[in-house]
Amino acid sequence: MKFFVDTADVDAIAELNELGFADGVTTNPSLILKSGRDILEVTKEICAMIDGPVSAEVVALKADDMIAEGRKLAKIADNIAVKVPLTWDGLKACKVLSGEGKMVNVTLCFSASQALLAAKAGATFVSPFIGRLDDINIDGLDLIEEIRTIYDNYAFKTEVLAASIRSVNHVSECAKIGSDVVTAPPEVLKKLAQHALTDKGLAAFMKDWEKTGQNIL
Ligand code: E4P
Repeated sequence: MKFFVDTADVDAIAELNELGFADGVTTNPSLILKSGRDILEVTKEICAMIDGPVSAEVVALKADDMIAEGRKLAKIADNIAVKVPLTWDGLKACKVLSGEGKMVNVTLCFSASQALLAAKAGATFVSPFIGRLDDINIDGLDLIEEIRTIYDNYAFKTEVLAASIRSVNHVSECAKIGSDVVTAPPEVLKKLAQHALTDKGLAAFMKDWEKTGQNIL
């Protein structure tokens, strides 16, 4: 399973990339706001750091305007994935941009039927938002499972990119279901390494090691 980093924070991306934990990056207008950076400038910087896809989101609502924005964003670098919302206009933009050979990430997906349309419109990625479904008491992981089944039934090439990831459990469950990608905030990716028993075990080893009076170096 690929890990994308859901942030526009270049320092956080660099740290994860050094470990090979950044197979790609996803951004959105809220993350650009949080970064305090210019979208074109920060996206260019991220694209230069990362070999994999970097999602940059259009902000127009009409298909023609989305297509124009998508073409401009795609010029930033070869590894741009143009992110369009899962609306009727977004699907039209997806069809055109993917037909031009651009990677397209169809975002804000909340149902299996929406995901089916994204695949048929030629999306490279579909982004079902798990956390936001959980927020309204609908199990977001069920949606990942449904989309996985549908895409496998018909051998759609669109990759399932589980988004709105809030917890370590979301990541491990997505891996079990067979999500192609998860995009998670850096804090969640770093938390994957944590376990209370690891901390407890390490503390005990350190205590005993001190008693030996030895040094390795
Ligand atoms: C995905 O591409 C989105 O940027 C992101 O995962 C949304 O997450 P949120 O629901 O935590 O804002």
